[in-house]
Amino acid sequence: MPHPSDKDDDSGPGVSRRTFLKTAGVGAAASSLAGVAISQAAGAKVLGPGPVPLTLKVNGAARTVTVEPRVTLLRALRNHLDLTGAKEICDRGACGGCTVLFDGEPIASCLMLAADAEGHEITTVEALGTPEAMSPLQAAFVEADALQCGFCTPGFVVASTALLRKNSNPTLEEVKDGLAGNICRCGTYSRVFEAVQKAARTTAPTRPVKRG
Ligand code: FES
Ligand code: FES
Repeated sequence: MPHPSDKDDDSGPGVSRRTFLKTAGVGAAASSLAGVAISQAAGAKVLGPGPVPLTLKVNGAARTVTVEPRVTLLRALRNHLDLTGAKEICDRGACGGCTVLFDGEPIASCLMLAADAEGHEITTVEALGTPEAMSPLQAAFVEADALQCGFCTPGFVVASTALLRKNSNPTLEEVKDGLAGNICRCGTYSRVFEAVQKAARTTAPTRPVKRG
């Protein structure tokens, strides 16, 4: 069943973001048009409002998507590139479910426009390992039973990967700090922390290893 977020607009019950914007007033529209005019006069590139082609570097490959400029990186990944590992949960940068690596740094992809990601290296959880070739970190999640519903897990795996690449031997406090932006509604934190510390004791904890 499709998740309500698996579309690019926000239509649905109640006042949608689109409806709100439509009714927000002539003043805002006028001032926005004035801003566009100023940008054009200054030679700045103005995208949209219709779909525009973008080339994103995702998991080592150049991928082209045609999306409206308001589309977030998360929705471009999920809805246009079929990379559904990153989850849309809060859609406001508060839960970490949508974490991806942006030039190696963990970011909330729900807070970034796809257009702003052009020219940067995006790495999603799909590139960090597969069931046949998990990284020691992913294997430690499995062994520590560090998930219940699993919805938060991709975000934790991406954030933990970034953490271990920077700090190969984190203390428990450092693990907690590194994962502070990720929320697990099932409350599996202690097992997630255990998995990260267990993986830290292996060599190359974030490199996928082919398993028998
Ligand atoms: S969906 Fe992006 S931080 Fe929650
Ligand atoms: S395992 Fe369910 S939200 Fe974390």
